[in-house]
Amino acid sequence: MDLFDKVGKYTQAKEAMAQGIYPYFQPLSDSEGSVAIFDGREVVMIGSNNYLGLTTHPKVRAAATEAIERFGTSCTGSRFLNGTLEFHLELDRRLAKFIGKEAALVFSTGYQTNVGTISGIIGKGDYIIMDKEAHASVVDGALMARGEMARFAHNDLDSLDRVLQRLPEEAGKLVIVDGVYSMGGDIAPLPEIVDISKRHGARILLDDAHGIGVLGEGRGTAVHFGLTDQIDLIMGTFSKSFASIGGFIAGNADVIHFIQHHARSLIFSASLPAPNAAAVLAALDIIENEPEYVHRVMENADYMRTGLRRLSYDIGTSNTAIIPLIIGDDIRTVLAWRALINEGVYTNPVLPPGVPPNKSLLRTSYMATHTREHLDRALKALEIVGENLDLIPTKQEREARALAES
Ligand SMILES: Cc1ncc(COP(=O)(O)O)c(C=O)c1O
Repeated sequence: MDLFDKVGKYTQAKEAMAQGIYPYFQPLSDSEGSVAIFDGREVVMIGSNNYLGLTTHPKVRAAATEAIERFGTSCTGSRFLNGTLEFHLELDRRLAKFIGKEAALVFSTGYQTNVGTISGIIGKGDYIIMDKEAHASVVDGALMARGEMARFAHNDLDSLDRVLQRLPEEAGKLVIVDGVYSMGGDIAPLPEIVDISKRHGARILLDDAHGIGVLGEGRGTAVHFGLTDQIDLIMGTFSKSFASIGGFIAGNADVIHFIQHHARSLIFSASLPAPNAAAVLAALDIIENEPEYVHRVMENADYMRTGLRRLSYDIGTSNTAIIPLIIGDDIRTVLAWRALINEGVYTNPVLPPGVPPNKSLLRTSYMATHTREHLDRALKALEIVGENLDLIPTKQEREARALAES
């Protein structure tokens, strides 16, 4: 059998392309954050992780430009060798302080942070216990690690307890949860997760990619719950609220020292370029000194949650800057994505395996820099498309329902 036989049999994406409903790897020809140009037309961007809208902030742009002028475009080496700049050390220190931990360590992406941390700290005989909706980078870190992997049902405390109960008492255990789940926009019940994990002698890693910048005055889900001291490791990424690319892990200084010397994705990959590090430092300044950005992103998401509920969209249990529009059927989801583009709104269609079968959704997410006019434009388009594709009841039905409920 030829290795490439599978290539000819993979027709799914090409069939969608032929039907004009293939939604992935599509270029934006321009982007100013809250609006972008797609397919030659302006679209309101409600499909980005640029929660604070800082990618185009003048101070962030200036810091990145200045760093390029000074250091050029690449460090051309790993942090282990020639790729550590003073910038990286400053960023490690600033992030540790910001998160409220003794130490932090910057990686070149969030993906590499999870893969390197998990595979570095988990040894033979150790266990990783992760939420079923944990990010792919957590799964990949666990696959690369020499220990065992167990999963518990999403945000299900009984399931977590049962899984931990089954594991050998003497084994090292790491419970991994997201602070905010990237598809549902729901928050992990951290106080209970901490209690259960501690009862079973497990350590905890919090992936707070979508919580930092949004919850806890921007410092994330642990601060939101007042639990920073109870969480052993806090991971964050720069590709969302920090308007850059990269990631970090924060925790006790000795644990971070160990990870620094065992994370292969840190040691064997080139370090974060200076402009990206400088952009994060500038974003940190803004988050610390201009809290209105953090407040505004949640105000905007709340405004949309109210509007979407009024339209009768199924938005699950979202209570952050991410709001899913749960449609169910794959084709209807992609058709809705396309129809919304035609109405000037950019969303992200998420199909299995990104979500369970029959749970396909449009992932929408909001920014501090969206204006009410942007959000009203998006709601109007969602009303038109929702009615045209029967995703929501008609206006008359919605009004009758609202009357019956009042
Ligand atoms: C929950 C979560 N963890 C980790 C990552 C990886 O981050 P990055 O994009 O910085 O590699 C992402 C990004 O999609 C994420 O959503």
